[in-house]
Amino acid sequence: MEVVILGGSRQIGRLAADAVEQLVRRKPDAVLGLATGSSPLPVYDELAARHGQGLDFSQASAFALDEYVGLPAGHPASYREVVRREFTNRVNIAPENVHVPDGTAADIPAACAAYEEAMAAAGGIDLQLLGVGTDGHIGFNEPCSSFASRTRIKSLIEQTRRDNARFFDNLGGVPHHVITQGLGTIMAARHVILLATGAQKAQAVRDLVEGPVAAICPASVLQFHPHATILLDEAAASALK
Ligand code: F6R
Repeated sequence: MEVVILGGSRQIGRLAADAVEQLVRRKPDAVLGLATGSSPLPVYDELAARHGQGLDFSQASAFALDEYVGLPAGHPASYREVVRREFTNRVNIAPENVHVPDGTAADIPAACAAYEEAMAAAGGIDLQLLGVGTDGHIGFNEPCSSFASRTRIKSLIEQTRRDNARFFDNLGGVPHHVITQGLGTIMAARHVILLATGAQKAQAVRDLVEGPVAAICPASVLQFHPHATILLDEAAASALK
């Protein structure tokens, strides 16, 4: 695990975008794993700017980490919309190559299995972007998720629903259930880059970097990943020894 402490979110965005750019130039049909939430937004801004200068995503594909269950199609907080608005609409990834778990599926287990199959058929994720929850979740693998888990339905804990209420009109609007890639799915990505900024992430970052590998901090499983890069600002790194 490589931990890099940077001056702020713009530098973090640039460094993560460098990794994406190098990958896409080396492998034009790269498979990107996309996080939503606030942490990756500077990366998407940077990639959109680089696309404006010619960075080509026309052969790339992308898989989102997770999606809320039950939000109507087109809901502005649904991750299908967020991924489209914040990233894929701003570059030239073909819409048919952008995949998000189907939170409206009548048969959720079948949709989850199909999502895993689609990732495998694409050749697996080359580079997975991640944020981390204040409770140590990655994707929406809340504390005590199985390290072997694959894409499936999960319940959000109240802390996560409160953390994400800012994207909704009120706390009551935050769904209780999500579809998320599992920890086993995330660990299968060839490179993972986790981004964290702000003092509210300091404890989770400490647990993920220095704590025991334990299901109570799902992100700690990344200690076992052969190529994990953790990009932090000083506030997020402030509890590290
Ligand atoms: C989002 C996701 C979550 C977030 C995490 C941090 O797709 O999977 O794990 O990365 O909740 O969210 P932010 O970046 O908004 O603090």
